[in-house]
Amino acid sequence: MAELGHEVLGVETDPDKRDQLVAGKVPFFEPDLQELLTTHVESGRLRFTDDYAEAAAFGDVHFICVGTPQVAEGMGADLSQVYSAVEPLAPHLTRPTLVVGKSTVPVGTAPALAARLAELAPVGADAELAWNPEFLREGFAVEDTLRPDRLVFGVTSEAAEQTLREVFATALAADTPVVVTDFATAELVKVSANAFLATKISFINAVAEVCEVTGADIVDLADSLGHDDRIGRKFLNAGVGFGGGCLPKDIRAFVHRAGELGAEGAMSLLSQVDDINQGRREHAVQVATSMLDGSLAGARIAVWGAAFKPQTDDVRDSPALWIAGQLHLRGAQVSVYDPKATQTARRRFPTLRYAADAVSCAQDADLLLHLTAWPEFAEVDPAVLRDVVRRPLLLDGGNSLDFDAWRGAGWTVRGLGRR
Ligand code: UGA
Repeated sequence: MAELGHEVLGVETDPDKRDQLVAGKVPFFEPDLQELLTTHVESGRLRFTDDYAEAAAFGDVHFICVGTPQVAEGMGADLSQVYSAVEPLAPHLTRPTLVVGKSTVPVGTAPALAARLAELAPVGADAELAWNPEFLREGFAVEDTLRPDRLVFGVTSEAAEQTLREVFATALAADTPVVVTDFATAELVKVSANAFLATKISFINAVAEVCEVTGADIVDLADSLGHDDRIGRKFLNAGVGFGGGCLPKDIRAFVHRAGELGAEGAMSLLSQVDDINQGRREHAVQVATSMLDGSLAGARIAVWGAAFKPQTDDVRDSPALWIAGQLHLRGAQVSVYDPKATQTARRRFPTLRYAADAVSCAQDADLLLHLTAWPEFAEVDPAVLRDVVRRPLLLDGGNSLDFDAWRGAGWTVRGLGRR
């Protein structure tokens, strides 16, 4: 927002993170974000506080950007952070203000939140709510924010729409498509987008299973499907399945909410998507075990990747870390290397061994698993690595390495759904 020309005050309640932000340091890895933060902390256009009264006095528009994780016991979304942001802010809103929800929420959240806002704000209904779902991907957060592929405004007044048009003037001037709609649609667009992406991945992973038992090749198949522009090639990469802080919990929250609303159809489809996805991780463990002749006890396994996908240090619900953890729990000695996620992985799974680089991770390994497709793994010379490992066995969980080059260097290579 500062890069787009606005004056911004960020409210961060975690004192450690706030201190880092005030010092101009991004508290996690996200490409290009450090440069932007440095620029705008230095320019003074971006500041941070923990004081809601200050935020209320400062802001004409307040974005709610907090997380909505899966509840601890159940499938639904935990909205406590959303309410913990709005409830302390609202009592300070003494002039007309727009509060804009960005968090991914179950359909029906916005009207309840709007009522709560108006109830707590001294300015009453002039503290208005809008819903503006966020579609950015981790690893491309800066790009997706500065150049979104669409904007969705869920509003209940023309004034709210006008305010959002002013906030996003740069994107609108670049002809970004905008859909102006009601609260329920805006809320549902977000979960539907993630549910569709998840479905696409589970679809190709289901086909990959058939490829495995028929000798067909999932990469050739996905390429062929992708040439049909009604289908498209994106999100048709078969492998260990989707993870992260969004897709898995969003489809579960969608199933849960659909159940509450009596919409059974969405429940059965997305439950299957989730089941297929979970099955991929166990399948990868089974393939790894079979490559080691059925015995994990004492086997040395190198795992390349811990993040849920490349270009992030996020290990939430990461297939790579789950697989590494299971192999360890089932008796293997596991060594993990990730270019950016070693620290976050160590916090989540401290009992694994973490290597300092890709090559030392593979030292004396009986099996190498490539599970997060960071570009640096594709640059390792398989001929050099052949002399580092004990047995030249590779399982490529994302089917992205050059199988011919690895086989040419003397490796036995398996993918998931690949020849
Ligand atoms: C996802 C959506 O793509 C964003 O549009 C959305 O804004 C975001 O969730 C969110 O709700 O905040 P993200 O979680 O960053 O973004 O990750 P994706 O790039 O969607 O990847 C999700 C998972 O799918 C990763 O584990 C990735 O490895 C996996 N994936 C992706 C596949 O297994 N195959 C593919 O072909 C593509």
